Formats: sequence, C-alpha cells, structure tokens
Amino acid sequence: MSSSSLDFQSLSWIGNPSAEFDSSSQRPVEGSKLAGIIKPIKIGNVQLPNNLVLAPMAGVTDGSFRQLCARLGAGYSVSELASCKALQMKSTQTLEMIRFEGNTGAYAVQIFGSDPDLMAEAASYVESLKICDIIDINMGCPVSKVVKTGAGSALMKTPELAAEIIKSVSKSVHLPVTCKFRIGWTENSINVKDFAHAVIEAGAKAITVHARTRQAMYTGPAQWQYLEGIKDIAKSIPFIANGDITSEENVLELYERTGCDGFMIGRGCVGKPWLYAQLLGHNEYLKPELRYPIFKHHLVDMLMEHGSTAVPLFRVHLFGYLKNHPHSASLRRSLCMERNPNVVLQAGRDFFNNR
Ligand SMILES: Cc1cc2nc3c(=O)[nH]c(=O)nc-3n(C[C@H](O)[C@H](O)[C@H](O)COP(=O)(O)O)c2cc1C
Repeated sequence: MSSSSLDFQSLSWIGNPSAEFDSSSQRPVEGSKLAGIIKPIKIGNVQLPNNLVLAPMAGVTDGSFRQLCARLGAGYSVSELASCKALQMKSTQTLEMIRFEGNTGAYAVQIFGSDPDLMAEAASYVESLKICDIIDINMGCPVSKVVKTGAGSALMKTPELAAEIIKSVSKSVHLPVTCKFRIGWTENSINVKDFAHAVIEAGAKAITVHARTRQAMYTGPAQWQYLEGIKDIAKSIPFIANGDITSEENVLELYERTGCDGFMIGRGCVGKPWLYAQLLGHNEYLKPELRYPIFKHHLVDMLMEHGSTAVPLFRVHLFGYLKNHPHSASLRRSLCMERNPNVVLQAGRDFFNNR
C-alpha cells in the first residue's frame, strides 16, 4: 500500500465517530526514532499491536477516549476501575462504564476489591459478558474509600492477600489476569520488588507498575529508579512501566534504565491524545490543522456516548486541550460551568485555529 493511500485511509475517521476501526495507526512506523522499543507484545495469549498502553483513569478513560486513543495508535487500553461488589449487583452504571463496543484490539476490564472469592466471581461475570481480552486487578488506587476496605493500593501492605486474589481470579477465568500496583505504600515501605515476585508467582500474566507510592498519591515526580531491576523479576512476563511518560525522551530513558516491555501513559495524553501517534512515528496525525478536528471528534463522540452529561464530563479533556492557552486560567473560569457544546466547540476552534 502506498503511503498516500495509507494516510488517507488512516485519517478518514476524523469527524466520523461511527467509522469502522482501522488498526493501521497502531502499527509502529519502521525507521522511526523509537523503532524496536515500541513494538508488538503478548500478554498471555493476547497479541497487542504495540506496547503503548492507555492508563485506566476514572472519570477520564470512557469508551470515547479509549477509542480515540486507539485510533491514534494506543495498542491497548484498560477500563476505569470497577468495583467487584457493583459487578456482583450487576450495577447498570458500572456495566455501562466497562462495556466497550469499540473493537479496537486489546482491552482490559479493571476490577477492584479485597475478597478473593468476590473478585473471582466478578471476574467470571465480566468474562461471561465477552467484552474484554484481559482482566486487570487494581492494586494501586490510593483513594481512602477504596483503601479502607483493604483494596487498591492497601494490597501493597498485604502481598499474601494480593497473591491470593490473583490465584483465585486466575482460577475462575480463561482470560489472562494482570495487575497494576505502585512502588509501595509509603516512602519508608517501598516493597515493589517483593510485591512483583508475589503476584508473578501467583500467576499474573503481566504487571504494570506506577512509579509512585500511595503516600505520594499523584504528586511529585515519578520515581523511575524503583522500576530498575523489575524486568529481572518479571522475566518473560511483560512489565509495563507507568508514571510521567509524556515524550519520546521519556520512553527512551525508561527503556534504557529499566528494559521495560511496555509504556502506560495517563495524564500525558489528556488534551494530547495524538501523543501515541507521535511515539509510533505516525506523523500524519501531528499536523496542526488536525488538532481542532480531533478535538471536535472527541466531543461529538462523547455526546453520542453520554448525551446531556457529555459536556461536563468533557471538561477534564477540555482543560487538557487548552492547557497551553495564553489565557488558560480565565478560560477555565469562564468554561467551568458551561453545558452548551457549541460554546465549548467555539473555544476549541478559537484556540487551535489561532495557533
Ligand atoms: C483522574 C485519574 C483517575 C485514575 N483512575 C485510575 C483507575 O481507575 N485505575 C488505575 O489503576 N489507576 C488509575 N489512575 C492512575 C493512572 O492509571 C496512572 O497510574 C497514574 O496517573 C500515573 O500515570 P501518569 O503519570 O502517566 O498519569 C488514575 C489517575 C488519574 C489522574
């Protein structure tokens, strides 16, 4: 296929959220700066087209954003965290959150809880829905409501329980089971290596490590030094590094320091979903004239997904897109209560068309 027909085909979805998914954008471009580092990997028996992962982010990574990032190259995405108790009750809200008809390739549903039996039940129910390729267990959420039940990052204090959860969930499903955790609970109790050993021995088919402690929540620089040596523990199991990845330089440095198999990107792609294309070498998506069409596509898709609540839900993305606006603070104030999609579209149009 000539590069011009590929360009045309790969760009044609912009402005048409219901367009069929085209996976050519997920193929790493030969000869690009990160060729050989950004590459296909396998989790269990699931083949990922590349090792750039969209991080799970509650309130951010809904179906529209997961689909958008996949169209711009992300090789794998993970749902927002879903409570095993809510799944047990078949909560409509939770089911709508994890359901994903995007057909974008690999997708994991992430569940949280601290009871191995309930987690197994929830995972088996999720598997029966046939909506995902992988079950991921959240062992990193720092929110008090979650940790006070012994779930999320509290599991870093109880590695035996974490291992029991992996075993119990793995027994209940055929899908690969993975987990995502932090480097430790506090700065004084960093136990990422022991924890990695425990969950891998218990059967985790991939691990993702967010290079912060629970104590740090989401602040301060990610502590990549604690990711060094993890690959020696993971051996043939994919080890995905996470925390403050926002550029090609970051990917290169993390790879050189840790030998990680994959890169999970969270806040770095909020307001900049074309970061995946940039890292893969798909420069056709980086043209300034595509910024506004992508912004508009995103909002229109969210309107289709969420109806009248789309504009408030889009706000986190809006402020991401407008982050480098010269009047970003006043714009934030004027748009923070806005519910009219046309006003939001106009703000995006003014910003991107005047750059
Ligand atoms: C708003 C928000 C929501 C998040 N929700 C989840 C979640 O549901 N599950 C999870 O494992 N991590 C969650 N995270 C953590 C991210 O997946 C990621 O580990 C973290 O943001 C660090 O990556 P980054 O520096 O690239 O943003 C969330 C982070 C943010 C900022």
